[in-house]
Amino acid sequence: MIDSRQHVYLERMGIAVWVRRTGQLSESDNSVVSLAINIRGTDAANMDWQTLEQHVSTCTDCALHANRKQAVFGTGNQSAEWMIIGEAPGAEEDKLGLPFVGRAGKLLDAMLKAAGYERDDVFIANILKCRPPRNRDPKPNEAAACSQYLHRQIALVRPKIILAVGRIAAQNLLATDAPLGRMRGKIHRHEPSGTPVIVTYHPAYLLRSPLEKRKAWEDLCFARRVCREVEP
Ligand code: URA
Repeated sequence: MIDSRQHVYLERMGIAVWVRRTGQLSESDNSVVSLAINIRGTDAANMDWQTLEQHVSTCTDCALHANRKQAVFGTGNQSAEWMIIGEAPGAEEDKLGLPFVGRAGKLLDAMLKAAGYERDDVFIANILKCRPPRNRDPKPNEAAACSQYLHRQIALVRPKIILAVGRIAAQNLLATDAPLGRMRGKIHRHEPSGTPVIVTYHPAYLLRSPLEKRKAWEDLCFARRVCREVEP
């Protein structure tokens, strides 16, 4: 059920709220376990938060370090139930050192609020910690070099669920080239942690295609249900 506060946030997301007269939203209980490959042996595996952040801020493992203003480590609740994983920092993020602070970030905040979470309740990170030039897609060697940091962040946070926002985040996290439409509505698994992964649209895409926001809302409702079912 949507309460009145969520109603307001959904409106801010540009979603007209329809109220079902009877019954609950039905959900396909298709579930797919996708195995992701941890491409690189990792030094980060035993690092604590402080050491990890220090390594990320000085990392030179791929060419992206040469043009970054700063690495974007990630931010939020280090014991979050929800971990949000995007693609890579853009210009604003590179400048401020924080993930999702541009227009897409504002929409992400609204989406999270609609789902009942403040930004500080969740942990937000990206596949890449450094901005690719002209915001191009991550190259496989860049994603592979950075994956050890993300795996360690996931291991430290131990979220109940991961929300992968956008095709690039989902494909890298799950080591697949499946299209986003086929990944939505299913429970995938992040390996090696085994954490359930739910896939939804990237907020930047939703800004360009606002009619898809309704589907993103369905994904958030699905994520909430999966989260509720995960053992504490
Ligand atoms: N897009 C992303 O995927 N991540 C960010 O941090 C900002 C924009």
